[in-house]
Amino acid sequence: MTPHHFLPAGPFTGRIRVPGDKSISHRALIFGALAVGRSRIAGLLEGEDVLATAGAMRRMGAQITCEGEDWIVDGVGVGTLLQPGQALDLGNSGTSTRLLMGLLASHGIAATFVGDASLSRRPMDRVTEPLSRMGASFTPAPGGTLPLAMEGMQPAVPITYRLPVASAQVKSAILLAALNTPGTTTVIEPVPTRDHTERMLRGFGVELDIREQDGERHISLTGPADLSPRDIAVPGDPSSAAFFAVAASIVPGSDLIIENVGLNPTRDGLFRVLDEMGASIERLNPREVGGEEIADLRVRHAPLRGIEVDPAVAPSMIDEFPALFVAAAMAEGRTVTSGLEELRVKESDRLSAMADALRVVGARVEQTEDGLTIDGTGGAPLAGGGPVATRLDHRIAMSMAVAGLHSESGVALDSVEPIATSFPDFLELMTDATT
Ligand code: S3P
Repeated sequence: MTPHHFLPAGPFTGRIRVPGDKSISHRALIFGALAVGRSRIAGLLEGEDVLATAGAMRRMGAQITCEGEDWIVDGVGVGTLLQPGQALDLGNSGTSTRLLMGLLASHGIAATFVGDASLSRRPMDRVTEPLSRMGASFTPAPGGTLPLAMEGMQPAVPITYRLPVASAQVKSAILLAALNTPGTTTVIEPVPTRDHTERMLRGFGVELDIREQDGERHISLTGPADLSPRDIAVPGDPSSAAFFAVAASIVPGSDLIIENVGLNPTRDGLFRVLDEMGASIERLNPREVGGEEIADLRVRHAPLRGIEVDPAVAPSMIDEFPALFVAAAMAEGRTVTSGLEELRVKESDRLSAMADALRVVGARVEQTEDGLTIDGTGGAPLAGGGPVATRLDHRIAMSMAVAGLHSESGVALDSVEPIATSFPDFLELMTDATT
């Protein structure tokens, strides 16, 4: 564990670019590996989570190489993956694990999934339950977690499945299984979640039938499906831009442009909530690249006020609550969040991790079953202190690093290693943007 003390710093000025979107990067590698032929990916996130997906796809026969800044994937096609020779170690990455379980569920191969202490605590029954209905079999550790052995079923059986939790990972796992399943598989989403899988599958030439029915989204895919290779430009990750948007909002004198940020409406909830709190965020040069909306964000320091956050916005900012809690801790008045029980099963229990961490540095926080209530400083710096426990969770680490920027004595973290899972150059970029 490498501790780090984040000292007060700022203002944030100039122009920065955050790394590629993590969700889109995983999918680009997986779909590229399932296409027959060569796909080229620009802007892939080279974080540990995405590299774990690349490693697993290589083990199953895809050729994945780097050419300059681009990544080249020579795919093997749907239905012809190889049996991995050893356990698939997916480190800290829930997305790699759940998406790949879906993919393997409809291939006649066996695999074992392992991960770090954080991933080994996370629930897998949300994917093993629907994938078992399709014919795959699973032997998890007691409690339904990793390490987990699975055997896929070829041919698998198509299902119609209504998501009991709002989860793009579960939706995507089932759609990945559907690619090699004869017949029509339908996923019903009562609450919309990030739709990169649907957008990108269409980009790879797969036909999807998507319709609204009684306020729910029905997504149907008829397999077996073929994917055609393509070139992909990965937009900047809004979940990474979030830390800089909050930093520039709370540090006086800041005026920062974050270029090329993905603003897919299933992902941009944090920016909308910050708008409502009084932040100054301009969306400049809005455009579409590879079927995803993007823009440059100009973020200027502005006094924030506490609000009651509508729980309906949660799926579109599910990974951004730790950053929002930091903004709330410096806002004027009270911020109330609710409907966030999913945060308890992320890389850490993010409600408890953030309540503990913010209290250590002097914020006033109450934890409820499904949210946090935070009384802000009204723009004054937090006291600071630490070390705070990052609990193998990159987003806790980066959020508390941001809290340290506008504090009296800085914020010490017990470990900065987790940051490498999604944002390897975070520390460097933070220094660049404040000097
Ligand atoms: C992701 C979906 C979300 C998100 C995760 C990435 C994805 O998880 O929290 O970081 O790429 O599909 P859930 O599907 O559990 O909501």
